[in-house]
Amino acid sequence: MTKIATASLSSIEEAAALLRDGEIVAFPTETVYGLGANALDGMAVAKIFAAKNRPSFNPLIVHVASREAAEAYVEMDARAKGLADMFWPGPLTMILPKKEAGGISDLVSAGLPTIGIRVPAHPVARQLLEKVGLPIAAPSANASGEPSATTPRHVADSLKENVPFILAGGACSVGLESTVLDMMSDVPVILRPGAVSAEDLEPGESLLAFGPIKFMGIKGGGAAKDLAADKYRNLSESGDLHEAAANLFSMLRDLDHAGAKTIAVMNIPGKGLGLAINDRLARAALGR
Ligand code: TXA
Ligand code: MG
Repeated sequence: MTKIATASLSSIEEAAALLRDGEIVAFPTETVYGLGANALDGMAVAKIFAAKNRPSFNPLIVHVASREAAEAYVEMDARAKGLADMFWPGPLTMILPKKEAGGISDLVSAGLPTIGIRVPAHPVARQLLEKVGLPIAAPSANASGEPSATTPRHVADSLKENVPFILAGGACSVGLESTVLDMMSDVPVILRPGAVSAEDLEPGESLLAFGPIKFMGIKGGGAAKDLAADKYRNLSESGDLHEAAANLFSMLRDLDHAGAKTIAVMNIPGKGLGLAINDRLARAALGR
């Protein structure tokens, strides 16, 4: 039997207790629902693979409450800290060197010397992580091979009786998995393009877009396409990397000159010229 509990102080406490006891729990994040287990407990993590019927060589993302918590489990250099400060909490997963002393189960990293880690932004996920005080390994809460679940109903339909407890927090606002950024090379590489970073766009920020943005919303209301002309530039509406590279510096300068304090940048594929563009953007973000 699966228990579906609407998120509240007591159900979050119940979910935290189950996680501490080595059980698996589905919970909402801003991207998709996660199927979580204590990342320090190999037996608990094994239940995730069994419930999803997932090949065990596929590593899992670790979820923590804060950047400070992340530093117990992974090595974070200045570049990683800079990105964390910009994008956490939020839909960015960074692949970083594992700290052996942190005790994350080898099953989580599938034997790799690295960990994928993020701080989710969903208030229920954050409360759960704070309450449980443990790193939580969580893939998307769906049976392997099925689409990621974005509602409690999808989770229940996909995992059936394999999931004992679903913490229900409505539909996920982003609805797309996090961006996975490999920080192990000189130039960060996007392994999985994910949730558009315009979701992080607060009214008042400027947007450097890439690709069509017709359906993109802005946190707090409104549509990205309705941004004031001096707060919005599009590197390439058709998603052409050459056009984007050619426009990069002049558009950054335009937004800068228009007085942008923060510029949200949409995902640019980490392939070909996109690698170079992402590298320049990361440098610009870190001020070097
Ligand atoms: O939005 C999300 O990321 C959701 C929510 C629940 O956080 N999680 C999610 O997890 O989508 P999952 O397991 O479905 O996808 C994890 C992705 C996989 O593509 C996996 O290969 C990659 O992250 N990944 C995890 N750890 C990695 C590592 N150490 N090295 C390389 N890739 C890694
Ligand atoms: Mg998945």
